[in-house]
Amino acid sequence: MSYIIRPWAVRDLKQVMQLIKESAAFHKALDQVRITPEMLREDAFGKEATFGCLIAEVPPEQKSKEGHTIVGYQFHYLSYCTWDGPVLFGEDLYVVPEFRGKGIGTSLLNKVAKIALEKNCVQFRFISASWNKTAMDFYTKLGAINVTSQNNWNLCHIDGEHVRKLAEQASR
Ligand SMILES: CC(C)(COP(=O)(O)OP(=O)(O)OC[C@H]1O[C@@H](n2cnc3c(N)ncnc32)[C@H](O)[C@@H]1OP(=O)(O)O)[C@@H](O)C(=O)NCCC(=O)NCCS
Repeated sequence: MSYIIRPWAVRDLKQVMQLIKESAAFHKALDQVRITPEMLREDAFGKEATFGCLIAEVPPEQKSKEGHTIVGYQFHYLSYCTWDGPVLFGEDLYVVPEFRGKGIGTSLLNKVAKIALEKNCVQFRFISASWNKTAMDFYTKLGAINVTSQNNWNLCHIDGEHVRKLAEQASR
């Protein structure tokens, strides 16, 4: 099997959207996917690109059972830590089941690590579900530290309605 890792392009949106749904289904959260190809296109290829995505691509003759030639992806964007400086945040690493265990996940992270170094990042951060032992084993082998258990960090969200309420108070 051969594959390449490359930054995505507009022509990849449809297949990546399909994989985002597969990844959400894997996390039993398909009903929480609100993103659309149009939103992805605007945010990644519009005037102010807010994130990048690397994809793993196989030649057409090796496409997946579902007909995909894109068989894995990793989203990434720049974040900033007041203690450490620039940090590259990785969002949603996913490899199609029939292509797992062939080095594709590691290759995606190899390329993401190169991007992190190019952007002078001192760290690569990501979130992994606590039940996902396969993923945690995979990341631990690559040097990841679980700061949730080691440093007692909580991951928090403030969602739409509450963001709006907070913002309204800014004009007072
Ligand atoms: C986690 C994941 C991205 C790993 O990708 P991958 O392409 O299978 O990883 P690799 O082939 O580079 O494997 C790296 C190591 O993990 C092991 N591994 C991980 N998942 C495996 C799988 N499903 N089957 C076989 N081996 C697997 C390999 O044995 C390998 O160990 P080794 O280097 O000592 O041989 C992939 O399993 C996946 O997409 N899982 C579902 C989504 C997910 O959990 N994403 C991470 C959420 S944050």
